[in-house]
Parts: sequence; structure tokens; C-alpha cells
Amino acid sequence: MSFNFLSKNVVGLDIGSKNIKIVFLTPISKNTFKLNKWALLNLPDNIVSADTLPETRNPVVVQTIKNFYSNNIGLSRKVAVSVSGPSVVIRYIKLPIMTKEEIAKSINIEAEPFIPFPISEVNLGFDIIAEVIDEGIKKNEIVLVAVRKEVINSKLDLLKECNLTPKYIDVDVFALETVLKYNYDIQNDVVCIVNIGANITNVSIVEDGVTRVSRDLTLGMEYIRQSIKNIQQIENMTQIDSLIKDHGIILKEEDKEKYLQEDRKTELLFTKNLTAVLKELISELHKIIDFYYFQKGEQKVLSKIYVSGGGSVIKNLCDYLSQEFKLPVELLDPMKKIEAADKIPQELRPIFAVATGLAMRR
Ligand SMILES: Nc1ncnc2c1ncn2[C@@H]1O[C@H](COP(=O)(O)OP(=O)(O)OP(=O)(O)O)[C@@H](O)[C@H]1O
Ligand SMILES: [Mg+2]
Repeated sequence: MSFNFLSKNVVGLDIGSKNIKIVFLTPISKNTFKLNKWALLNLPDNIVSADTLPETRNPVVVQTIKNFYSNNIGLSRKVAVSVSGPSVVIRYIKLPIMTKEEIAKSINIEAEPFIPFPISEVNLGFDIIAEVIDEGIKKNEIVLVAVRKEVINSKLDLLKECNLTPKYIDVDVFALETVLKYNYDIQNDVVCIVNIGANITNVSIVEDGVTRVSRDLTLGMEYIRQSIKNIQQIENMTQIDSLIKDHGIILKEEDKEKYLQEDRKTELLFTKNLTAVLKELISELHKIIDFYYFQKGEQKVLSKIYVSGGGSVIKNLCDYLSQEFKLPVELLDPMKKIEAADKIPQELRPIFAVATGLAMRR
């Protein structure tokens, strides 16, 4: 095992509610990376629910990370982590042309009307994304990110318990933007990313390489699994996972016919139920895409949807989404252009989307 001690690179640490994803990249030239270390650490099912209390969940997470590090002595303890969900708010505002320093001084006041939490309770970040003409005046378009302080603080506490040093705290959708830009030629396109996790699905629309719309839906694989359990009364979650992976959505008429002939009632009922549950996700996605078009007026059209996260295991999901949205849909390979990425099985790679984006931070 080789770790580059001189590397300024950080370990991408994506602490999800079901899986902890770890990615460490070493730079091989200015803008190319090699996969050095990766891990997918499953957390036990009894702490995955979004309702799990931090005092129940955190000790398990800390122990899992500590165990990983004790088996990987020498690996950098500098990490990049991310936040997402209802405590993270991203807004786009236009301000008169100013330097970054000037904006930094006035950002609290400027941001206040746009943030649904008291400004004293959030950590605020911003970036200038474009120069625009607004009612005849040249302005800066700014992306504002507000994260509830308690969320940042509890993340920092957790990392401290693991003896890790946080170098960056990113937001899931921006880590996804990073991986997408690194691996795919999307500089002149409008694309959508759907990262389906256990409890949260991050959705964003990236226009010419810049995230323009983003939403974190509180709907993920846990909701899907639990819904199937209730509707179809399957107690065995392993069976549900196999149905998701091996059958998923049965799309083609000839396949349905085949299942019928083979009398595979469970699978057919499952696909019907899964499609019904996924309708909620589809409906939310339609709203987000409509919002993008509404906001932008006549603009470039969305050309592709990329799917990542654990939800990418749902068989035929891309074909199903493609049929629903009348667009090309493909799985996002966050390591498409990263050397030695074949150490990670192809089907697992979409799960590492956020962690890979974090690992690219320098
Ligand atoms: N090999 C695997 N190990 C664990 N989960 C897997 C695997 N393959 C697919 N999955 C699915 O991935 C889901 C979790 O996906 P992911 O790791 O993206 O979520 P997360 O980041 O832990 O959750 P969230 O971001 O919502 O907190 C699981 O619920 C499961 O259905
Ligand atoms: Mg996640």
C-alpha cells in the first residue's frame, strides 16, 4: 500500500446514513488523478432511518471510521466532508459589482432576506458565479450557501472524535458538480444529476458547468424499501434488495410477458409497486426541471440526466427515467477519467460520486 505523504490532497469522506464512502486520490499531473484508496463501509440497518437520534448513530459512525483508519495506518487524516438536506440552503442573488472582500463584509445583511433561518444561526458561504446585466446594470450573480451552525458543529465534533482534521466542508451538490465536470464534457450543456441516497436524493441542474438549481429531496432508498415492505408485506429486507437489484422496473412488454408465463407473481407485483413509489420521485423531478425552465425563460434545453448514489442499483432505472423524461439517462461514473479506478467494481462506482468530488478538493 502506498500513501503519498507529501500530497496536499485530502481524503474524500462521505458520511451517508447507510454507507460511509472513502476516496483518496493522488495527483499524477496538474489535472489528472489516480485512485489510491477507496472503501465502502456499510452501517447497520438499525441506524439508517432518518429518525435515528445522533446519540444512537454517532458512536457507530465514529467506531466504523476509527476501525477503518486503524487498518489503514499512514492514510492522510485531512478530510473533506459534505453536508446536505433540509439544513442546507442554496440561493442565487444579484449584487452590485464588488470585490470578494467587499461582498464578504456585506454578505450577512444581503443574505438575510433569502435565508429561511435566523442569520445568527447559520454559517454562510458564497461564490461569484457570473457577471450579469440586471435591469440595465452590471451585477455579480452570487451563489449563497447557508448551513445551520448546529449541523456544521455536530459534523466537526464527530470528526474530532475520529481524530480527523477537516480541511473542507462542501455541499453534496457541489461535490457532484465537481465530479461531473472532471469526467464529462458538459461545459456547454444543461444536465441534471439525480443522486439517490438512503434518505436523501440530491437533484441539481448544471448549466455550462455551474449548478443553477438544486434540491435535496427527503426521499431515498430507505423510503422505497420500507414502502415495498409495507405494500407487499415482505418482511425480509434482503429479498427486497434482491428484487431491486435483479428485477427493478420491468419495462418491456416482452419481458412482462415472459415473467407472466413463468408465473413470477412476486416480481411482477414488485415492479408494479416500485413504479408506483417512484412516481413521487418522478413528480418531484418534473417540478425541479419546470422550475429551471420557468426561471430562465427561453433557454438551452436539458440534454441529459445522470444518475448516481445507491439508487443507481435499481435495475432499468435509467431506461425508465429516459422514457418518463424523453431524455438520454445514464449512470454517472465519478471515476471515468481517474486512473486505476477499475479497482472499484463498475456497478459500485456511482455510489462514490460525492466522495470522489470531495477527494478532488485541494
Ligand atoms: N453494495 C451496497 N452496499 C450498501 N448499499 C447499497 C449497495 N448497493 C446499493 N446500495 C443501496 O444504496 C443505498 C444507499 O445509498 P448511498 O450510499 O448513496 O446513501 P447514503 O449516502 O448512505 O445516504 P444519504 O446520503 O441519504 O444519507 C442503500 O439504501 C442501498 O439500497
Ligand atoms: Mg449520500
